[in-house]
Amino acid sequence: MNEIRALFPGVQGQVYLDVALRGLVPTPVAEAAQAHLRERVMGSGDKADFQGHVERARSRLASLLGASADEVAVTKNVSEGLNLFASSLPWERGDNVVICPEVEHPNNVFLWYNLRATRGIEVRAVPPTGGTIDVGSILEAIDRRTRVVTVPHVSFSPGFRTDVRAVSDGARARGALVLVDAAQSVGAIRTDVEDLGVDALAVATQKALLSLYGLGFLYVRREVAEALRPSHVARYGMDLGTESGETARSDGALPYAAGARRFDLGNFNYLGARAAATALDLLHEIGIGRVEEHVRGLAARLAEGLLRLGLPVVGGPPGQHLAHIVAVGRAGEGHHDTVDDPALADLYRHLTDGGVRLSVRKGVLRMSIGVYNDASDVDHVVELARQWVSSR
Ligand SMILES: Cc1ncc(COP(=O)(O)O)c(C=O)c1O
Repeated sequence: MNEIRALFPGVQGQVYLDVALRGLVPTPVAEAAQAHLRERVMGSGDKADFQGHVERARSRLASLLGASADEVAVTKNVSEGLNLFASSLPWERGDNVVICPEVEHPNNVFLWYNLRATRGIEVRAVPPTGGTIDVGSILEAIDRRTRVVTVPHVSFSPGFRTDVRAVSDGARARGALVLVDAAQSVGAIRTDVEDLGVDALAVATQKALLSLYGLGFLYVRREVAEALRPSHVARYGMDLGTESGETARSDGALPYAAGARRFDLGNFNYLGARAAATALDLLHEIGIGRVEEHVRGLAARLAEGLLRLGLPVVGGPPGQHLAHIVAVGRAGEGHHDTVDDPALADLYRHLTDGGVRLSVRKGVLRMSIGVYNDASDVDHVVELARQWVSSR
């Protein structure tokens, strides 16, 4: 992995443990973005080329998910993907969604309460257990009016993996669809939509997909997508055959594009797509299996090192729950970006003063490992934590 690390200038002079906020951008991705900007500055390049990068990003992302390109729409972020899917479902008043809001990022919470206000749906909020999704409680909350169950693949705080397969098996048996917020998992750990058994999944490219803000993807299983009328439409979501998208149709026909492509709208974030396509090429070369092994191995090393110092690592010793995020503190305390415990706030200051870049999320210090990190990063953090513990 040393040759991979060399592609990330951001690993120099700091210990960057914040992929869960946004990932470091590697040099080839920055160069791809600059190439796009150069074309815009010089007035060269054309739309067909720009679209080519969008299609390259879409198909690379699809293969990372084990999906086909037609099952992936191009969006601008996770929230847009979640909203497009949720608002396109044929809700009837009294239908419900099952969700664990305390573990969800706010971007997968507001939309459901909005659908409650606008479409009369019921939001069935299930509590977590020890900071994690309790699959049993989720399944128990499903009834015949449940249209959707939504869970994060890896939560933003405390960063645990959800047993998505168990949720999907249970939901399917009860006739509900499963929508996954995969903001934190895609690009870090294997996220195969067939293995997970999900119907829809949203992701954006600024975290473990190592590229820019403002581009995301929405996966929707083909049969599910093709049974839906999108809540938002524009020319790129229509199958116009040989007709140019510039030619408006006035006959009222709505030739929705195949699969999830019907959720594509107007012009794409071509800058973001070119960057993401390059990052996805890089991840493809490395192989997601290797990435996962690397980031989970380092996360386990970090969790064990901090536990040896007696620090409250959420979830305890590394186990099935652990992905690439290690949280210290008490899950669920504090606000979105604060901790209640003054000692933890002090540890946060000590780490940041020591050159560590990490986040505070919902009462925990969140450290997240990227493909560019190595054992020296982890050992540096454990040593800083050791100094802090012994100074108290
Ligand atoms: C689980 C999760 N969902 C969603 C988001 C963000 O959503 P969006 O890309 O729409 O800003 C984040 C982090 O920023 C996240 O961690």
